[in-house]
Amino acid sequence: MSHTAGIESLGDLRGKRVLVRSDLNVPLDGTTITDDGRIRASVPTITQLSDAGARVVVTAHLGRPDGSPDPRYSLEPVAARLSELLERPVAFATDTVGASASETVAGLEDGGIAVLENVRFNDGETSKDDSVRGAFADQLAQLADAFVSDGFGVVHRRQASVYEVALRLPSAMGGLVAAEVEVLRRLTEHPERPYVVVLGGSKVSDKLGVIDNLIDKADKLLIGGGMVFTFLKAQGHEVGKSLLEEDQLDTCTRYLSEAADRGVEIVLPTDVVVDTAFPSGDREPQPSVVPASEIPADALGLDIGPESAAAFAAALSDAQTVFWNGPMGVFEVAAFAEGTRAVAQALTEVTSSGGLSVVGGGDSAAAVRQLGFDEAAFGHISTGGGASLEFLEGKELPGIAVLERA
Ligand code: 3PG
Ligand code: MG
Repeated sequence: MSHTAGIESLGDLRGKRVLVRSDLNVPLDGTTITDDGRIRASVPTITQLSDAGARVVVTAHLGRPDGSPDPRYSLEPVAARLSELLERPVAFATDTVGASASETVAGLEDGGIAVLENVRFNDGETSKDDSVRGAFADQLAQLADAFVSDGFGVVHRRQASVYEVALRLPSAMGGLVAAEVEVLRRLTEHPERPYVVVLGGSKVSDKLGVIDNLIDKADKLLIGGGMVFTFLKAQGHEVGKSLLEEDQLDTCTRYLSEAADRGVEIVLPTDVVVDTAFPSGDREPQPSVVPASEIPADALGLDIGPESAAAFAAALSDAQTVFWNGPMGVFEVAAFAEGTRAVAQALTEVTSSGGLSVVGGGDSAAAVRQLGFDEAAFGHISTGGGASLEFLEGKELPGIAVLERA
């Protein structure tokens, strides 16, 4: 295993400008933060740098604006929340690398903290063109003397503030990324068995790699959430108006047969909570439970049903290692939250009987908090969704590899 240097490796930071890539990508309702978990997770490293006398410059993204400023994705409310959590003032730059950023950074005292506006307001951040990302990274690097990579949720992205900037400044891994990597290694190296993986969330296409890889490693794979309808359809069931990725049907069919060949148990829901429309503010949900094989043509599945929730909990009851990514349903709405609650509850029981339970992904992490679970009842709650999945796939993550290069 290659060694990655921590913050200590950067030496005396007093008076040095340190650029920190955090993942502050939190869910917002207008300008109200509905789950501040990622902001809280970013606090220790920022505090550590500030306490060391560094001038801390935080860069982060929010959502997926397409390379130009969009007020809906401003980090300003996030910077305000960060300041409350840090109990220290936080300056806010209204651009990413422009005049406001330079002035804000120049105005920092030792130990001072600034947040730059959403790094994805600049198309250099996510450009497919290496030289465009490189040119933007040059500008980011000019704002600092050193770089700390602490946004675990983005280490799977080859983006300027994650990857290219680390090639341009003395760089180190922040404590959040280090802690995440340590737990996820336990899942990939010697998971205690039975090892059960629970996948949900909306898109099969996001989860293909991990399913491919886990078919070899896990003992059981439980699938719920929006992605399950593509599996149900692949089994020959009609799914009504449920989320469906037609182009993934063949892949799902292949997974089902590969899993059968290799003795991996794939558990799909046998019943589903449906409604005739996706929940929205002005309409009272009208949930009903139907067999997974009999979803009416005018209905869409919004949660796994009670029989399935019990079956999922039973499948988790003897697990020694569990990785869970993606809610089982539209947990934000009480009528469709029970499947997610049952899985979360089953994970807490794995923890209390001495097993390792890991929750990965912004949505699943937000779900456990929103449903009122104590975070301490889980072995680890990862701040990264895609990043933790790609880690489990065994892929090289650019944002980690770049730190290991030296
Ligand atoms: C996330 O929310 O998963 C991370 O912040 C990464 O965001 P992205 O998927 O838009 O790159
Ligand atoms: Mg994501």
